Amino acid sequence: MIVLGIETSCDETAVGIVENGAMLLSNTVVSQIDIHKAYGGVVPEVAARSHIEAMTAVLEESLNTAFPDSSNQSTIDKLANIDAIAVTYGAGLSGSLLIGTLTARALALITGKPLYGVNHVEGHVYANFINSTKLSGYNLPGQSPTFPLLALIVSGGHTQLVLFKDHFDYELLGKTQDDAIGEAFDKVAKMTGLPYPGGPSIAKSALSGDPDSIQLPKSKLNRPYDFSFSGLKTAVLRASQSLAGGDYRLSSIEIPEKLNEHQKCNIAASFQKVAIETVVDKTVMAFYEHSPASVVIAGGVAANEELRKQLDLRLPVKPIYTDTKLCTDNGAMIAALGCFKANLNTTPDDPYLLEINPNLKM
Ligand code: KG4
Ligand code: ZN
Repeated sequence: MIVLGIETSCDETAVGIVENGAMLLSNTVVSQIDIHKAYGGVVPEVAARSHIEAMTAVLEESLNTAFPDSSNQSTIDKLANIDAIAVTYGAGLSGSLLIGTLTARALALITGKPLYGVNHVEGHVYANFINSTKLSGYNLPGQSPTFPLLALIVSGGHTQLVLFKDHFDYELLGKTQDDAIGEAFDKVAKMTGLPYPGGPSIAKSALSGDPDSIQLPKSKLNRPYDFSFSGLKTAVLRASQSLAGGDYRLSSIEIPEKLNEHQKCNIAASFQKVAIETVVDKTVMAFYEHSPASVVIAGGVAANEELRKQLDLRLPVKPIYTDTKLCTDNGAMIAALGCFKANLNTTPDDPYLLEINPNLKM
């Protein structure tokens, strides 16, 4: 079963091809980071237009990588190598989702291959099922997770703990009540003048900072597996204003120029410590309550080295995490999830009817 997966929910135009949910054949991603950098965040209209510009070239390159022997053939002939098409139909930015979904619908109509609309957040978890590849430059886990499976999903739009009893049979243990953890990384980076996207910038600065230099609060919520990052974000703002020599009236736009490098690194390290500890504490607690066979981390923030290190240290089993190129948005994870849908005889979606769902929940 070879599935082609299309992902355009935010600012990555991505097409990946995966065999049997485990073997990576191609993973082509065009990121719009450089375009959105100037604005300090994703501009939805610009993102949708950029997806239109990149989509056909990304599709072509992904097919050529997976099937080099057919690289001289037409796109339609190349598509004869695949068995099904999967696409992110939610959650995400509506304009962005539309480009991927309409592309997938058109390809399904032209080729007659079955079409599977998939949930982006669920797709992040399935990146961890991809365990081997002949492509160079990938560090894959070597084995797929087994059920019951505890998934910590940490991305720019989501923070949740999910217990999968089996494929498509899961229970949401908890989720964020306000900001996602990746969003908090991005906002703290903006506040301290570190470049977009904030996650990697904070992680890099934190290496040169003292994580105990600023005392920051951990949120306490009624439901043990829920998360909240808005209080932490405000606490970082207050600490940054104070380090910059001002009080709560100092605008966040003015803070970066008043901070020196050393202070920025200390803010990054102190914030990262509390943010990571928060998600690790809850994952460890869920592990002891539910005794899963595997633990995976998924989503862009799963690329964070400190998160990986802390989970390795505190869990009695080795958590599964994948190559950083498969943690951030990509089409391969969508293809992997599509493989399991197709293998389990899920009814395909109608290519005339599949609609986007920007607010799709797990
Ligand atoms: O999964 P993803 O690519 O997109 C969403 O579905 O949201 O995640 C993007 C998020 C951004 O907030 C980015 O700052 C964060 O992942 N991120 C990181 C790291 N790399 C990406 N956060 C912390 N440390 C990293 N190394
Ligand atoms: Zn994502």
